[in-house]
Amino acid sequence: MRKKLIAGNWKMNGDKASNASLLADVLQGLEASVACEIAVCVPSVYIDQVGRMVDATPIRLGAQDVSAQDKGAYTGEISAPMLKDMSVRYAIVGHSERRQYHGETDALVGEKAKAALASGVTPIVCVGETLDQREAGETEAVVKRQLAAAIHAVGHCVSEIVVAYEPVWAIGTGKTATPEQAQAVHAVLRAQLAAATEHAEKVQILYGGSMNAGNAAELLAQADIDGGLIGGASLKAPDFLSIVRAAVVASA
Ligand code: 13P
Repeated sequence: MRKKLIAGNWKMNGDKASNASLLADVLQGLEASVACEIAVCVPSVYIDQVGRMVDATPIRLGAQDVSAQDKGAYTGEISAPMLKDMSVRYAIVGHSERRQYHGETDALVGEKAKAALASGVTPIVCVGETLDQREAGETEAVVKRQLAAAIHAVGHCVSEIVVAYEPVWAIGTGKTATPEQAQAVHAVLRAQLAAATEHAEKVQILYGGSMNAGNAAELLAQADIDGGLIGGASLKAPDFLSIVRAAVVASA
């Protein structure tokens, strides 16, 4: 059975002091052996700080983006070999905020996923439709197009990615997809993965978009929802811990 993965996406939040206290609180609240996987995807300047704090704990380190290039004259970029060098386990790629504010295309997102895998960093490939696209009945087509680009780029390594379904209209809005809406899309994504790899059952598909302590349990109870990519609620230790506990219950 797939383990649940609860990954915090801190986005552009935090500072040294608040990172330290948030992590100390989360670590203190965790059971000694947690029956789910946990990660925090932090701003790159804090990868070193957070890496030291989570070393030898159940929390894995994640980045919020990665370059498609390995090295060279790409000012401001951070490569997958650099992330690996800092013991980073996950890199989010294709978050809707990167697609929207940084013009990232499906093809670039695929290249980033490929670069991450080549360095032993697991890409968390984000897909999701806007409200306009949902209302126009395009949800399935949009997420399939986005995932297809990643599948195409990573080739035979498809089963090594993590996928995150994040409906854009649910991100930071307090509007969550219903468990049924989310499960329907996750099932579509699972079927698409199954057409590309015989190991589709291994792939974790996370839900993201206003997941919180109150709604996590019913989302995580769905057959194809294998965890969460948590924005706002990952910045509050009690909320993040509640979601982790919901994942543990859903795994039992
Ligand atoms: P919120 O949980 O704040 O809606 O953010 C979701 C998200 O974008 C995680 O990547």
